[in-house]
Amino acid sequence: MLTLDSLNALDRAAFTAALGHLFEHSPWVADETWPRRPFRDAAHLHAELCATMRSAAPARQLALIRAHPDLAGRLAQHNALTAESTREQASAGLNRLTDAELAEFQRLNTAYLARFGFPFIICARLNAKSAILAAMTARLPQTPAYEFTSALGEIEKIAHLRLNDLLEKTL
Ligand code: GUN
Repeated sequence: MLTLDSLNALDRAAFTAALGHLFEHSPWVADETWPRRPFRDAAHLHAELCATMRSAAPARQLALIRAHPDLAGRLAQHNALTAESTREQASAGLNRLTDAELAEFQRLNTAYLARFGFPFIICARLNAKSAILAAMTARLPQTPAYEFTSALGEIEKIAHLRLNDLLEKTL
């Protein structure tokens, strides 16, 4: 059983194994947060994880953003997402798109990637598909710096919900 107390007691490798998935394909965030234990509660742990991400070099932050799959993208179509991503995309209804909706997602994903060099990130569990499409359209004209910061903010929300799942399941 995993409680916050037992999380605080884990050695570095076990801590990283338990929390590595909170940031997509980027266990270094958990690994580099471990020295700041003990964590008082889930909010404190989340804040420290986010501080690790925010203080990383921009190239590392960019790699983290790029580790995210496109919404309704090629990996989703081929069932090649992580378990968390599969659940997140399904919660927004992205696994039940019409052909026209799918084409619209693909058009916007391609345009966004071409403009910014990284995929569009929004916390899929907090947005239904219509809100996601509207946000993609609204964010396309933004500046790269604005979008980079927006992506990190959305990644913090994704990690927060993943952490809640973990603690709810195991507390
Ligand atoms: N890409 C854009 N949004 C999301 C999200 O909420 N979860 C995952 N895994 N990938 C994303």
